[in-house]
Amino acid sequence: MSYAVTTENLTKRYGKRTVVENLDLRIPQGTVYGFLGPNGAGKSTTMKMLLSLIQPTSGEVRIMGQPMTRSTRRQLLGSIGSLIESPPGYAHLTGAENMRLVQRLLDLNAQQIDYAVQAVRLQDQMGKKVREYSLGMKQRLGIAMALARQPKLLILDEPTNGLDPAGIEEMRRLLRRLAADGVTVMVSSHLLGEIDKTATVLGILSQGRMIFQGTRQELFSAAMPDLLIDCSDPQRAQGMLARAYGAQLENSTVRIPGLEDDRAAASVVTGLVSEAIGVHGVRRDEQTLESVFMRLTAGGQL
Ligand SMILES: Nc1ncnc2c1ncn2[C@@H]1O[C@H](COP(=O)(O)OP(=O)(O)O)[C@@H](O)[C@H]1O
Ligand SMILES: [Mg+2]
Repeated sequence: MSYAVTTENLTKRYGKRTVVENLDLRIPQGTVYGFLGPNGAGKSTTMKMLLSLIQPTSGEVRIMGQPMTRSTRRQLLGSIGSLIESPPGYAHLTGAENMRLVQRLLDLNAQQIDYAVQAVRLQDQMGKKVREYSLGMKQRLGIAMALARQPKLLILDEPTNGLDPAGIEEMRRLLRRLAADGVTVMVSSHLLGEIDKTATVLGILSQGRMIFQGTRQELFSAAMPDLLIDCSDPQRAQGMLARAYGAQLENSTVRIPGLEDDRAAASVVTGLVSEAIGVHGVRRDEQTLESVFMRLTAGGQL
């Protein structure tokens, strides 16, 4: 697998306080990587370190496999577009005028500007002054500015913050389109729902530490929902299953934690039936990505 970003033991301390601790990021090329965590978890600090906006206390950053050093920094940063904190752009200028400034600053051609504007679907709004833009349009203009140099990697810090549901949906679609075009997108959010199914790979940060990194499927299987069994004699069933499976009794339902293998679940049921316990229903406890996230972030101070 080739990675757009990897870090080794990336750490940032302010005085005695460690705000990012031994982070090993693995961001596969061409994916939307959702960088999730409650406010204060260290997402912005990490992104700023990737962009050399702040200096790591220790650890290493690699972009497209190349270590970020004093001598490689300029070239590597040239392949990254970013949107950190509030969107850039001059409010008193039109979208087109802002894009022309970017064009001149980065010495780009007209096609590159057109590509970026079309990618964010703002071509019909270019004549308007930015102060007349909605927040979502400002965010998209900011992304167009970041995209103009046709970066291989786009780093977006909470681009859905403050957007209405339609704006959030438009942003999700944009991120998916970019990834389909081969751009690796790292996008942060403190709200799981805002990234939703857009991100194929997730990194979950809590108090400066990575508590999960992997695909959505891996996340679910790392936290398999409990098995719930309704049967004719729950007391006896719980007694039978307590030692081997840690079964607990909850009202009149038998709860078995985890139990990843569905064949194991089947043999539990067969065991009950062979002891003449009638099994009325077997189901998995309801589990949303939200609840997994909450569990992982220990109560999820969202
Ligand atoms: N310049 C700084 N000096 C001291 N502490 C900071 C500084 N910048 C950020 N922090 C602290 O680091 C922690 C992580 O912040 P941040 O990276 O902004 O989190 P997030 O983006 O996940 O909300 C917070 O507790 C914040 O107060
Ligand atoms: Mg932040």
